[in-house]
Order: sequence, then structure tokens, then C-alpha cells
Amino acid sequence: MAFNAQNFVVEKTRDIRSQVGNDTTLCATSGGVDSMVCAFLAHRALGRNLIAIFIDDGLMREGEPEKVTSLLRSRGIRTVLVLAADDFFKALKGKEDPEDMRKAFRDTFYKTLGKAVRKHRAKYLIQGTIAADVIETKGKIKSQHNVLAQIGINPRRYGLNVIEPLVTLFKPDVRKVGKALRLPSTIHQRMPFPGPGLATRVVGEVTPAKVRLLRKATSIVEREMKSIKAFQTFAVLLDDRATGVRKGKRSFGNIIVVRSVQSKNAMTATPTRVPYDVLERIQKKITNQIPEVTKVLYDISPKPPSTIEYI
Ligand code: XMP
Repeated sequence: MAFNAQNFVVEKTRDIRSQVGNDTTLCATSGGVDSMVCAFLAHRALGRNLIAIFIDDGLMREGEPEKVTSLLRSRGIRTVLVLAADDFFKALKGKEDPEDMRKAFRDTFYKTLGKAVRKHRAKYLIQGTIAADVIETKGKIKSQHNVLAQIGINPRRYGLNVIEPLVTLFKPDVRKVGKALRLPSTIHQRMPFPGPGLATRVVGEVTPAKVRLLRKATSIVEREMKSIKAFQTFAVLLDDRATGVRKGKRSFGNIIVVRSVQSKNAMTATPTRVPYDVLERIQKKITNQIPEVTKVLYDISPKPPSTIEYI
């Protein structure tokens, strides 16, 4: 039977209301499609009893904390911005293995939410985990930041009671729910952005300096690829270096990968066939505006055997 987003909204708002009652509830949102749809759904159910928590973990794209919190507030959603970049960088320090990084991110994420829950005397945390997150985490492909109970971690360890209204859905249906909730299409049709943010796109240890560099490259790639339809388009900073030459001077600089994929539900993906002149323009802008970068590559790997992100 075809998925009916209107019915889903009616059922889930009823379920959330009956589970939560009149208690204050928090909803974690990163500005990505899933967590924004979840915040709007929870707000439909709970109104002023819902507080959206946006954690500025230092791993967001340019201007995101301001953009996301002002959009939530403009729709009447009580919103709290938590500044926690230092905690996340401290947790990621010295970690190079992708799963170690993911687990460190997850642990800091839930500790931060646990603190927020206590501060606001909230009873529940609502989060936008979707089916693909659970499948990939349980399948040990990669530990998504927002999966706990399904892999045997009791959320109470962080002082949390977790509600996951979207956990049965894949991305296309999440977008339909967003549309049914009348979110702006810029949100429900937005490219997915992973919870651990730019940390999933830094290979090797994540440091503030690397994230700053990647954030600039990400803005350039997103801007230049705006007109090219894709499931996801982004930049990645590799752990390797490559020799470059500028004005006759040698440098041993950074390597940025441009990644763009077509996909329905993120379980499989194919690389976008980006016109060569667009790629050339991106290369020029990145190496001109970020002098530390000596090489720009385009990734032509499908999923499988690759995954979409790099860690
Ligand atoms: P991969 O890299 O596994 O990604 O092919 C599949 C989809 O999931 C997103 N992704 C994440 N989303 N938390 C999230 O909320 C995470 O830890 C995470 N890791 C990957 C990725 O951007 C892609 O859309």
C-alpha cells in the first residue's frame, strides 16, 4: 500500500501526545531533513511543550546554526542553541579510526543532550532516526550517531527516554512527511547532511583547523553545484598531501575530493555525471580561495563498494 504522509502525521502526533502528555520534551535537530521533519512533527504534537535543541558542535556548515535556529523560531518552535564545539573537538582529538570517531561523536552528542534534558527538566528526547540509520548501524557498516537502543545501548545511560517517530521510514517518505507538515521545500527537499557533520568528511584526526578548511571548500562546492540535481553533493578533506607549485614555489598541500551522488534512499548510490566545466570551475575556486589545497579530485565510486561519506 502506498505511503500516506497525511495519515502518518495524524497517527504520530496522536502517539507522541499520548506518550508525552504535558511534560516538556526536547527534540534534537541538526538542520538535516530527518531531524527537521521530526522537530516539526513533534511541534505539531506538543506545541509550547516542545523545545528544539540545536547543538553547535563546531562541525556544521557555514552559517548553519544561525539559519536553522532562526527558521525554527520563525515557525514558533521554542529553540535552544547549545554551544559545545570544544567538547566535540576534545572527544575527537587523536582519533583516526572512523568507528572510533563515530562513537566519540555519538557519546558526546548524547552527553550534551543528557545535560540539556536535565537543565530543562524534560522527560523525553525525540530524535529523527530513520530506517536506513538503524540498518547501517546494526549491519556494522557504520555506527550512525543517532542509534542506541537498537544496538543494545540503553539511552538511560545518558539519562534519556528516547522517542523515534520516523524510525520505520526511509528518506523519500520522510520528505513526504515534511511536505505534509508544510515545511519549506528548501528543508524537505534538502540534501541529507549527516549528524556528525563535517567530521564524516575529514579523513584522519578532526581538528578545528581542518574543519575550517573543509567548511570553506564545502561552501564553494555547494554553491557551484547548485544547479546540478543530486541526492548529495559535498567536499571531503583527505588525510594525504600532494605536492603543488605556485609562482615557482613548491608546497606540500591538502587534497580535497568533490563527491556527488544520485540515490533514492542512501542504501545504494551512483556518482553524478558532472559536466567537466563545472568541475574545472570548482577546482579553480578551491585552489584560489584556499591556498593550502594543491589538488582537487572528483570521486567516481558508486555505493557499493564505496559508501557515500568517507568515514
Ligand atoms: P553512507 O556514508 O553510509 O551514508 O553511505 C548513508 C547516508 O547516511 C548519511 N550518514 C549519516 N547520517 N548520522 C546521520 O544522521 C550519521 O552518523 C551518518 N553517517 C552517514 C549519509 O550522509 C548518507 O546520506
